[in-house]
Amino acid sequence: MDLFEYQARDLFAKHGVPVLAGEVIDTPEAAREVAERLGGRAVVKAQVKTGGRGKAGGVKLAADPDDAVVKAGQILGMDIKGHTVHKVMLAQTADIEKEYYVSFLLDRTNRTFLAMASVEGGMDIEEVAATKPEALARIPVDAIDGVTDEKAREIVAAARFPEEVAGQVADVLKTLWTVFITEDALLVEVNPLVTTADGRVIALDGKVSLDENAGFRQPDHEALEDKAAADPLEAAAKAKNLNYVKLDGEVGIIGNGAGLVMSTLDVVAYAGEQHGGVKPANFLDIGGGASAQVMANGLEIILGDPDVKSVFVNVFGGITACDEVANGIVQALELLKNKGEDVTKPLVVRLDGNNAELGRKILSDANHPLVQRVDTMDGAADKAAELAAAAR
Ligand SMILES: Nc1ncnc2c1ncn2[C@@H]1O[C@H](COP(=O)(O)OP(=O)(O)OP(=O)(O)O)[C@@H](O)[C@H]1O
Ligand SMILES: [Mg+2]
Repeated sequence: MDLFEYQARDLFAKHGVPVLAGEVIDTPEAAREVAERLGGRAVVKAQVKTGGRGKAGGVKLAADPDDAVVKAGQILGMDIKGHTVHKVMLAQTADIEKEYYVSFLLDRTNRTFLAMASVEGGMDIEEVAATKPEALARIPVDAIDGVTDEKAREIVAAARFPEEVAGQVADVLKTLWTVFITEDALLVEVNPLVTTADGRVIALDGKVSLDENAGFRQPDHEALEDKAAADPLEAAAKAKNLNYVKLDGEVGIIGNGAGLVMSTLDVVAYAGEQHGGVKPANFLDIGGGASAQVMANGLEIILGDPDVKSVFVNVFGGITACDEVANGIVQALELLKNKGEDVTKPLVVRLDGNNAELGRKILSDANHPLVQRVDTMDGAADKAAELAAAAR
């Protein structure tokens, strides 16, 4: 889960990373009072979960409270790379001497954590990374040892921070590492980390991405979710504890096991090419041991998606055998009917694995008018794509 800058700023402040005072508002008029509290001058910053805000005109300096109202009015409602600005943060201004870059992230390729740092921070860091990779130090950080004094000094030296700020930057790195670990983050990035004319080192911008898998031990993180921006189907699926991701096609997908579902998306996209380019409408893994209720929950979400024109249920029977899954499907359709939900979209079911024969027989015997059995994965994908194309 990516955070807004102001949320990252709050987390930084909580753990002692030096930041400037700031407040979030959602109307231009509210900027006046906040700017007054901040001392008159303020930086007005678009709060959107994308980079390059400054370059898009989403970061503006306001000279006084009246100007803050004007600048907030210009930025609120702005579109930055497809993100509408609904909130702006007003922050105290810093008298910047130099802009640096520091971050910690999970380096999946090398199966470790990674520190990145550069004395050429600021809005062009992406270009620095691309054209002058030697200017961006990359230092692996051991998960057990973490950022010790020694590791912090190593990062500072590798990035060639000037001697006079080395100690302060090392302290910021250690504190940022604390944020990274105690908040279960996948990324903490400060760009720019600045030195000011009066010799302070301050984080002027923050990007934090939290690991949602750690949500169970981070009760405070739920409050950071941007509920308004969540896809309504994804939110409904989450409430039912389903592993669901909305995609932009028309074939609803249900499978058991993430790997099988991923492959199902591929075969449906491939088959769809023969049927006018229909594509999968979602990822949904109901997992092993799925009960009729879980199947019903999954079907309810998928059938509730107006984009879905056909559904492909692809199950490989394992611990939960195919007969149980088949009964689950039959009962799920019954459950939905009893709930008054009008099931009108065709379902293509492919069952294989443990007790496949029995499962197929149960479906045949139930003889549901909307359910078709196809016994190969490719054949079923083709059928589901064909049905979706026909219903367009
Ligand atoms: N509080 C502040 N006081 C003075 N200058 C600031 C302040 N905040 C930001 N700036 C200036 O504006 C520039 C852009 O700000 P910021 O880094 O927050 O946005 P951005 O980098 O464009 O956004 P993103 O990180 O999303 O790409 C900074 O590099 C800095 O020069
Ligand atoms: Mg930035």
